Amino acid sequence: MFKNLRRKKDIATLVSEHNAQPNQLKRVLTVRDLTFLGIAAVVGAGIFSTIGSACHTGGPAVSLLFVFTAIASGFAALCYAEFASRIPVAGSAYTYAYASFGELVAWIIGWTLILEYAIGNITVALSWSSNLVNLLHNIGIDFPSFLTTSYIEAQKAHTQFVTLSVNSETIPQSIIDLSNIYLSAPKLGSIPFIINVPAFLGVLLVSVLVYIGIQETKRITNAMVLFKVGVILLVVVVGLFYVSPQNWSPFAPNGVSGVMKGVSAVFFAYIGFDAISTTSEECKNPQRDMPKGMIYALLICTVLYVAVTFVITGMVSYENISTTGDFLAEIFNDRGLNFFGGVLAFSAVVATTSVLLVFQLGQPRIWLSMSRDGLLPQRFSTIHPRFKTPSFATFITFLIVGIPSLFLDASLATDMNSIGTIFAFILVCGGVLLLPKKEKVAGVFSLPYINSGYIFPLFFMVCVGLLYTYNPTFVKQLFTFESWETTRGNIPYLVYFLLMIVLAVFSFLKKLSLIPLLGLTTCGYLMTEMGIVNWERFLVWMLVGLLVYFGYGYKKSKLNKD
Ligand code: ALA
Repeated sequence: MFKNLRRKKDIATLVSEHNAQPNQLKRVLTVRDLTFLGIAAVVGAGIFSTIGSACHTGGPAVSLLFVFTAIASGFAALCYAEFASRIPVAGSAYTYAYASFGELVAWIIGWTLILEYAIGNITVALSWSSNLVNLLHNIGIDFPSFLTTSYIEAQKAHTQFVTLSVNSETIPQSIIDLSNIYLSAPKLGSIPFIINVPAFLGVLLVSVLVYIGIQETKRITNAMVLFKVGVILLVVVVGLFYVSPQNWSPFAPNGVSGVMKGVSAVFFAYIGFDAISTTSEECKNPQRDMPKGMIYALLICTVLYVAVTFVITGMVSYENISTTGDFLAEIFNDRGLNFFGGVLAFSAVVATTSVLLVFQLGQPRIWLSMSRDGLLPQRFSTIHPRFKTPSFATFITFLIVGIPSLFLDASLATDMNSIGTIFAFILVCGGVLLLPKKEKVAGVFSLPYINSGYIFPLFFMVCVGLLYTYNPTFVKQLFTFESWETTRGNIPYLVYFLLMIVLAVFSFLKKLSLIPLLGLTTCGYLMTEMGIVNWERFLVWMLVGLLVYFGYGYKKSKLNKD
């Protein structure tokens, strides 16, 4: 049984099986297209919407969190690049895990990637809808609010409204507005009828495009990327004229914990460069171009993000940064730059459209690979005879993203999306450590090997020493039992600490490669900061995934010899 769970496909089999597939996708993507696809997937709801509250809580120091997250994502990107250069087959981290850890972990990754792509796209769809509604409102077009709001968000706001009123506390305007929508919406029996129609239509529109073809998707994506990158550059240049350096002080008004509250939102902003690896089979020269595309996309986005965060936290005092969806446009409107604010509102719609597009593109391609391996029903690998796209899987992705976006709340989806993606990054970094050595081939990316044997244990000891010197209370509290509640909150840190000890020992004994180890360390730390509640939700998600695997994939797998 245990051996069966570790059954895996070696890289040569993966590639030859792929080449033998009767139905192939169209190979049209170049390195430029891949880089654009990466930027299309990365720059979106995060920078235009969700990081507003991170800056509000963490202050200007959030720009450092952007740098740290870029470093963590950068290590992961190098590991993705190493896999992409060895396994030029669609399926992203799922396929990579199949080759390194075996089937069970591959399934877990495939299941986790649903959080990144499909569930993540629910957040993007909701953000897209709010950006569109704001944009139309600014030009005088308004829809009934019960048709443009998430039911769960309105319900939560109403409960909050009641609690705050009972305690006679100040109620934020956004809560009052949502509560009013809840009370005034038409009723279905006793339940208010509140749905987010634009979010659903956005998903529908994008899914149709993805269904029709990669060539069309590519053209539209490239145009959207040029536009949104141009606008982000303008934000930086125009914003510089409005910077008041005193806004950068205090740099971290709520300390490290205030900054770390933004981990999920900031990480969310970086998610996407890995989506490139789902399109390996549509790439002209995947082994050469995939790694380049991922690394270029991440570098460009990092520079843009750090610059934007610095500028906006310099323009407005952190306390006054709005936590609502279109905070970036609001900052410029408040400076009297209404036209530019309008351009930003429009760009937010364009940016989120491109993210929606790439994730709607990525999810079916992962399912396509899983279905070819027998872990999902065969219909998921159906390729449309004319459009040459995974048609059935694209349709199911539309349903899975479109229907929940009618009523779901964005914050839950963002957290689950971030934790799922960090987990995928961790497994990809871990997977690289298990790969056999390869010969260097000219023109093909190769991850540089740096022996971690002494460096990593030393690095670990220095980190522990620094932590003990500068925050002894935290260390003491970590290892003392005060109450179940505190210990429960400490679990992520304790697990992380244990993982680090194991890695330090193995790095010394096995002379592991340093880059993937640092990827594991930095991404692991980000995951620790996601908090126990998200860990528990994630665990439940994984357990459901395991039930599905043992109920279906374990028996139907093409590797099943029983
Ligand atoms: N990084 C993507 C965004 O910010 C998910 O929308």
